[in-house]
Amino acid sequence: MIAIAGLPGSLRAGSLNARLLAAARALAPEGCSVEALSLRGVPLYDADVEAAEGLPAAVVSLKARIVAADSLLLVTPEYNNSLPGVFKNTIDWLSRPPADIVRVFGERPVGLIGATPGVAGTRLAQSAWLPVLRTLGMRPWFGRQLYVTGAHKLFDESGELTDEGTRDRLSTYMREFAAFVAACRA
Ligand code: FNR
Repeated sequence: MIAIAGLPGSLRAGSLNARLLAAARALAPEGCSVEALSLRGVPLYDADVEAAEGLPAAVVSLKARIVAADSLLLVTPEYNNSLPGVFKNTIDWLSRPPADIVRVFGERPVGLIGATPGVAGTRLAQSAWLPVLRTLGMRPWFGRQLYVTGAHKLFDESGELTDEGTRDRLSTYMREFAAFVAACRA
C-alpha cells in the first residue's frame, strides 16, 4: 500500500483546495491511500515560543502523519501570485528543529497541485513552492502538471468534483504520482 499524506493550504470550510484533495483521495488508484491533513491548530511561527515550549501539539501531530506516509501531496491555493503565508507557516514549523528536516522531508516524494477560481490555475504558487522543496531536500514529481482553473464551477453543492475533464486529469495525476512514489520506495 502506498500512503500519501495530503495537505491543503487553506483553512476555509469551503476551500476549493480541500475539495480538490478530497477528490484526489476518492480518485486514488487501488493500493494507494490518501490521508487528508489540515493546517488547523498551527499557530504563527514564533522562535520564542519554540525556545520556551518546543513544537506545538498540532505540529508534532502533523510531523508524525507525514513521517508515517510514503509521500506528501501539497494542494496549494495562490495568493498574490505566490504561495499563501498560512501554508508556508506550517511548513516552516515542520522544518524545526533543522536536525529533523531529513527525517520529515528528506528524499520524500512530493506532488504539487492546486485550484483557483482564476484563469492561471495556481501556476505561480506552484512555482513558488519549488525553492522551498529544494531547500528541504524533497523529491518533487514533475511528470504531470495539474492547474485547476475556474474551480468554483467544478464542484457541486456537497463539495464533490463533478467536472469530468478535471476528474480525468486528477485521476491520471494520482495514478502516475502513486507509481512514482512506489518506484522511490523500491
Ligand atoms: C487570492 N486569490 C488569488 N487567486 C489567484 O488565482 N491568484 C492570485 O494571485 C490570488 N490572490 C489572492 C490573494 C488573497 C489574499 C486571497 C484571499 C485570494 C483567490 C484565491 O484563489 C481564492 O480565494 C481561492 O478560493 C483560495 O483557495 P481556497 O481557500 O478556496 O482553497
